[in-house]
This record gives sequence, C-alpha cells and structure tokens, in this order.
Amino acid sequence: MSVFDFYVQILYIWPSMSTARVHIKSFGCQMNKLDTALVSACLKQAGLALTDDAENCDVFLINTCSVRSHAEQRVLSHLGNLKHIKETRPGMVVGVVGCMAQRLGGELLARDEVDIVCGPAQIPHIAEFVTGALNGKKKTLAVTEEIRRASEEQTLALEEFESAADGSDRAIPNQAYVRVMRGCNNFCSYCVVPFVRGPEVCRPPKAVIEQIKKLADDGVKSVTLLGQRVNAYEYRQGGKTYCLADLLEMASEVEGIQWLKFVTSYPSEKFFDKILQVMADSSKVCNYLHLPAQSGSDRILRAMNRHYTAGQYLALLEKARAIVPDIVVAGDFIVGFPGESEVDFKETVDLVKKARYKNAFIFKYSPRPGTTAEKEGRDNVLDEVKKQRNTELLDVQSKISDELSSRFLGKDVDVLVEGLSKKPHLNKVEAQGWPQLVGRTATDYIVVFNAGVSLAGQFVKVKITKTSPLTLFGELQTQINTD
Ligand code: 5AD
Ligand code: SF4
Repeated sequence: MSVFDFYVQILYIWPSMSTARVHIKSFGCQMNKLDTALVSACLKQAGLALTDDAENCDVFLINTCSVRSHAEQRVLSHLGNLKHIKETRPGMVVGVVGCMAQRLGGELLARDEVDIVCGPAQIPHIAEFVTGALNGKKKTLAVTEEIRRASEEQTLALEEFESAADGSDRAIPNQAYVRVMRGCNNFCSYCVVPFVRGPEVCRPPKAVIEQIKKLADDGVKSVTLLGQRVNAYEYRQGGKTYCLADLLEMASEVEGIQWLKFVTSYPSEKFFDKILQVMADSSKVCNYLHLPAQSGSDRILRAMNRHYTAGQYLALLEKARAIVPDIVVAGDFIVGFPGESEVDFKETVDLVKKARYKNAFIFKYSPRPGTTAEKEGRDNVLDEVKKQRNTELLDVQSKISDELSSRFLGKDVDVLVEGLSKKPHLNKVEAQGWPQLVGRTATDYIVVFNAGVSLAGQFVKVKITKTSPLTLFGELQTQINTD
C-alpha cells in the first residue's frame, strides 16, 4: 500500500473507529467478569467508546460461558436477535468472545451475523479484531488450536496483557478481581473448563502483588483473587514455593487494601491449613470460603473424578471451623449427575445439612460435549427428577440460610457498598427519599439499606433490622473511615 493509500484508508476508517460504540454483554462466572473488564479496558485504550445502549451500538460483543448448556442457549438466542437487527443495520459488528468461542470456533463464525470469534486466550488482541471488522474485514477466527497445549508465547502474551491492564473499568467501585491462575488440570468428569480455558498456569507472585499495588493506588479496597482451584496456586521461584497463603500474606501488606477474598477453592488437604491459618491471623483476609462439594455420595464423587469422599470433605470443613471459628462457607452442587440414585441424592441432602452453608449454588447436571461424563453418553436422570432434587435441596439449604442470617438481627455489620440495588421493587424499605443500596459484608452476605449513592465504594456500618435466607436488610449507622 502506498503512503497515500494508507492515509486515505485512515481518513476513511477514522470517523467510524473514533466514534464506534461497543456494547458488551457478559455471561458467567467471576473469571468472565474479569475478562469483560479487560476487554473494556483494551477497547477504550484503542479509542473506542463503551455503551450500555444495546439497541444503538456499532459493535455488539458477547462474553460467553460454556459451563452449562443453558448459558450457551441464551447466547445463541441473543445471536438470533442480532441477526434480525443486522438485516436493517448491516454495518454492525458482532463478536463472540470467551469460552463458547473457544469451544465452537468455526461453527459460530459460520453464522451470518457473527464477524468475530475470539477465545479467552486471544482477548489481548480484541481491539485489533474489532477495528479490523469496523474497517470492513469480513470474518475473524481467533481461538487456540490445541487448547491443552499452552504455548509459552501465548502465556507470556496473556501475562503481559493482564499485568499492563489498568483495570479502571470496574463494575463495582473500589473492588477488583485479580487472577492468580488460569485454566484447570482437574478434569472433573462433567466440566468443560479444562477444554476451553486450557491447562493450569499460575501467575508469578510478583506480577500478582504488583497488580494489587496498582489497584490500591487507584483506590481499590477489596480484592478477590481468582482461580478455578485457587487454593492449588503454587509457584516455584528461587528455591521457594509460593502458595495461596503466601500471596494472601503479601497482599495483606499492600497499603490501602482492606479486604482480601479468594474463589473458588477445591476440597483438598494441600496448603489447606496454611491458608486457613492466614485467614485466622490476618484481619484483612475475609473469613469466607467457597468450597464446592458437588455431591454427598462417595460413588458419585468418584464418578465425577473429585478426589475426596463426603467424609473427607466434612473433615476439611470441621478443620476450617476449628482454625477460623466464625468462618462462613458457601457450596456448589450438581444434582442429577448420570447414575445418581435416590440414595445418592439423600446423601447429598445429608451433607448439606451437616455443612451448614451460608448459601449453596445448585445446578442440574448438563452434559458438556467432550467431557468424560458426556462421552459415556448417560444423561440418565430425567429432567423432572433433576428439577425435583434441585427444589428439594434448595429448600433444605434455604432453611439453613434463614437460620444463619437471622443471627444478624439487631447487630451492626461492616459493609462495602456496591451501588444502587438492581431490584429495589422486591425489597421495599421506607427511607425518606433515599435510594436503595446494596453491599456485601466481608463474609459475602448481601446487605440492602437506604442511603445516598455517593457511598458506593465506601465502607459503612449497617444495623440489621430484617433478614431473609439470602439477604440482610438494615439501616445505615455510620460511614467507616479507612483512609
Ligand atoms: N452441569 C451442571 N453444573 C455444572 N457445573 C460445572 N459443570 C457443570 C455441568 N456440566 C457447576 C459446578 C461448578 C459450578 C461453577 O458449575 O457446580 O462448581
Ligand atoms: Fe471444572 Fe473441576 Fe476444574 Fe472446577 S476443578 S474448573 S469443576 S474441572
């Protein structure tokens, strides 16, 4: 291309690029929320504008989740809508990012409405892909060919991208997620994550701590460390092995950081005592543990390729409660896993009763292509039965949650305010014209109260006046000064 052509092209694309407005719709877990924040930061740096206006955007990106079929179906139905919209607005760019992009690749790109398919490892290049598409490039497929073979080059690129991200695009003021490891090597027989996020790679402790320092300089007060098996974090350097407990200790020393959380933990003895001890010793490490059990039946746990029995799981909880007496625990369960009998399910109910979770996320088993459980081809628990078990387990958990949350009645709790409540109509509280805000305690309880929205990102004290299984309601007492 001649220099003249180059400038003509820049003149041609500049107006559309500089004013292009990108809407991002995000599905899935905290890992995905973090990826969405990184995509936003990357696009902004490239001069694109972000918009909440899904109807009138120039670029529509969907950050996708593949963990259950339902999440993928929702994305496909969004794409169906976008296909219609593109009939009247052919210039609109549509991109699918994340796990589903990695899983389905070319199949997604073959859809008329899709211009970009970008896997989780290719996110560092998203701005290039978007500007390319705005510039008329027809189709971009960017996924990892052999997902279980992490190339050194790709890992370095991801590390560089993540470390450099300014992270200013925080959905919740003064709170941030920091990834400590990518991927997963556990291959639970139902789970698609190892096939879409690739092998486990731990980030260097220095990179993690530098990032937390940068966030703290930027006003962040609460950091959640992320990993699929975050408690398995292990990094060898200079003759020393760093585990999650070391990261938490180092992060506790970062000035400005008040709360440190970590999700999700895998039930395993390795490093467990050390991590729990740091939780007990540090006032900054929040007394909260998300420890999915998935089932209470040893037979099903074995079939799930989880490497523990129900007894070992409960022993871990007991140990956690001995080291951190007021620890709050949350769990995940899958009901209707292939071959799950009534007896197996009753054992799960039993475990839930013993574990006394603050809350538990309960999912109906969804066969995921490529996983061992799916390949064996036995999704043999009827959907009706899955639904029934889901409801029954939720009811059991709900009673426990209600009991535990009612203990807060009349007490003051410290809350980090997230912002305006998204469902104020559901929890009407009289408050003389103040809007309804939502925040969380250090142990992840959701707290709803009325006050000025300028408190978003601040710590406050709230007196609890009413409770429900999943939410505490109260009255603002004071703002806590943490400076
Ligand atoms: N079907 C249903 N639930 C699943 N999960 C993971 N894979 C599946 C699946 N195939 C659940 C697990 C996990 C949570 C993130 O999603 O409970 O902890
Ligand atoms: Fe999936 Fe198991 Fe890895 Fe969690 S530990 S991401 S459930 S394979």
